[in-house]
Amino acid sequence: MTWTPASWRSKKVAQVPVYQDGEALTRAELRLKSYPPLVFAGEARNLKRSLADVAEGKAFLLQGGDCAESFAEFHPDNIRDTFRVILQMAVVLTFAGAMPVVKVGRIAGQFAKPRSSDTEIIDGIELPSYRGDIINASPFEKLAREPDPERMIQAYGQAASTLNLLRAFAQGGYADLHNVHRWNLGFIAGSPSGERYRALAGRISETLEFMEACGITPDSAPQLRTTDFYTSHEALLLGYEQAMTRIDSTTGDWYDCSAHLVWIGDRTRQLDGAHIEFARGIKNPLAVKCGPGLSNDDLIRICDVLNPGNEPGRLTLITRFGADKVEEHLPRLIRTIKREGRKVVWSCDPMHGNTIKASTGFKTRPFDQVMKEVEAFFVVHRAEGTHAGAVHLELTGQNVTECTGGAAAITDADLSSRYHTHCDPRLNANQALELAFLVAEGIRAERFKTQRPAAAQ
Ligand code: PEP
Ligand code: CO
Repeated sequence: MTWTPASWRSKKVAQVPVYQDGEALTRAELRLKSYPPLVFAGEARNLKRSLADVAEGKAFLLQGGDCAESFAEFHPDNIRDTFRVILQMAVVLTFAGAMPVVKVGRIAGQFAKPRSSDTEIIDGIELPSYRGDIINASPFEKLAREPDPERMIQAYGQAASTLNLLRAFAQGGYADLHNVHRWNLGFIAGSPSGERYRALAGRISETLEFMEACGITPDSAPQLRTTDFYTSHEALLLGYEQAMTRIDSTTGDWYDCSAHLVWIGDRTRQLDGAHIEFARGIKNPLAVKCGPGLSNDDLIRICDVLNPGNEPGRLTLITRFGADKVEEHLPRLIRTIKREGRKVVWSCDPMHGNTIKASTGFKTRPFDQVMKEVEAFFVVHRAEGTHAGAVHLELTGQNVTECTGGAAAITDADLSSRYHTHCDPRLNANQALELAFLVAEGIRAERFKTQRPAAAQ
């Protein structure tokens, strides 16, 4: 079947909102179609090349950000804090793990959410579920829950200015490695992982001084001064994605210019469904979430459809089983991919299989379960001889209390104190940094083939 940016419309679409006013929806989509692309196809190709290095075991991918961005939390401090904690984590992985790190945010477009039910019932009243700020609003009120096409326009505007600031941070001096100490601020600095980070930053500063004495300065090596930072989100709201899909004038290929990388969620990866149909025709790097329900055969069929040329960097498989199910599912998927000779990036999402309801009613994730899934991911890949290439995290640079545990030992009772997420619970900056040190140990163990890695400093 020939592909067009609209060919998904003839397939079954899971997780679609029902808009009351079809004409208003068409008008909003047409407007979006006339707006500038958010990313340039050449950037998506650069990311794909970097991901090819990850697929080949030569680099590591760090992907993270909000579960759902929101209009209410749109603030430069939030963008800066997310960027900063990702930079800190990347520094830990690059230095302690001794591997180049590809940085991709779940940001500047991560608005649409799949839901387990189309509607929500409270006290006998049934309303459409909240599906993310690009679709409707979260208060449990009739008007708020009505899908509104104008929200796509607002989301586009927020994504554009978020991306603008991220580009400025990445290229304008904020990400200069000489600032490595300055990223460790405020509440992070006083925590155990902040202390550990400070020691590592000290070693990096010494290394930079040594390199400068040898003549390697930001003038001769500009990569010391800037960084590459890419964006990603779940390609869920296909009308929006279609409107952002453009022909690249330099190659004649179609790219979804809403982000560098887009992924398909665990709930929308049906082989005969609209999301796979849409994704197969765009040339961006893609990812697919792989939960316990994914069969070996379907995994290969997904690879056939999304990456028929077996191009390294094109496809990332994000496994998300739950800490106690990694042993059961990850080896079978790895062996299937190996047997078929497929080139993929293996990523671990330790968040979505470890969500529970706390005694206080909040949705949470125990930090030790998150750590356990990451550890199991590294152990299984080491045993199978494959590259544990990436982590995919829901995190924020803010000092929130959404996931229990960590060095600050957040309890069920603490959750209400700073619970700000618009969807799933995120790691706070301390927990994210703590996790980065564990990941660095995993990378070192794989790289230097040790059973018990020396703790990263
Ligand atoms: C998500 O990443 O926010 C998400 C919904 O994940 P999954 O598709 O793995 O459930
Ligand atoms: Co989520």
